[in-house]
Amino acid sequence: LPAATDPYQLAAEAGAALLARFDLPALDLALVLGSGWSSAADALGEPIGDCALAELPGFARPVVAGQGGSLRLVRTPAGKVAAVFTGRTHLYEGRGEAQVVHGVRTVAAAGARTVVLTNGCGGLNPDWSPGTPVLISDHLNLTGTTPLVGARFVDLTDLYSPQLRALARTVRPELPEGVYVQFRGPQYETPAEVRMAGILGGDLVGMSTALEAIAAREAGLDVLAISLVTNPAAGISAVPLDHAEVIEAGRAAAPVLRELLSGLAGAL
Ligand code: 6GU
Repeated sequence: LPAATDPYQLAAEAGAALLARFDLPALDLALVLGSGWSSAADALGEPIGDCALAELPGFARPVVAGQGGSLRLVRTPAGKVAAVFTGRTHLYEGRGEAQVVHGVRTVAAAGARTVVLTNGCGGLNPDWSPGTPVLISDHLNLTGTTPLVGARFVDLTDLYSPQLRALARTVRPELPEGVYVQFRGPQYETPAEVRMAGILGGDLVGMSTALEAIAAREAGLDVLAISLVTNPAAGISAVPLDHAEVIEAGRAAAPVLRELLSGLAGAL
């Protein structure tokens, strides 16, 4: 049989292949672990098994070193089956919007009802020091693109579920929230772009998540999204940005993220 070229059909095939591979009737939820978050993967529950993404229809290998490539299924303490992506495809990799959201569409096709999207990002609020987790309350999609094709007039009101945000605060009451601004990247923003993001109502700047959240809503999933502030955005602090520092902030925040994710896994 020829491989499907329609992205929704391809995701349906990947979802079916994933369930068949582990002999499961359905997923319950999925998590996408972004920069800084993947070391917390084993805090989510008992592993059911791992699957190389290359074995499922439609997945490309991530190009950024240390950013994933595998999918783990776990049984959470709440008894749910969760699919955990340790890494993601970014728009700046140039593989197109459909590839960016293929994971989200795949888990939706496999029956997941909830997706937790995480990322590492720059912060505009100087009170949010590196290592601060922040709930995403809404987004500005400044990528100039969308994963949706055709007449898909999807409502994005309460895209970032108020109920799931309240649930996250039962795990970590001090979680602040903010508006996430997705840029296309891969370059970090200029100080002027960061000022623009702030004037527009943004609190966090990054290169992921919003397009995935849009595809998740289209697929009928409830979305919870949490950013890890890995550094102040350009112009917020006097120090220039450095990818190594972004990685290091993720490492340093690992215990807090583990506690947060393990608490969520028990509550979701
Ligand atoms: Cl400052 N900007 C963007 N777009 N992504 C980031 C970041 C900043 N810091 C970590 N990831």
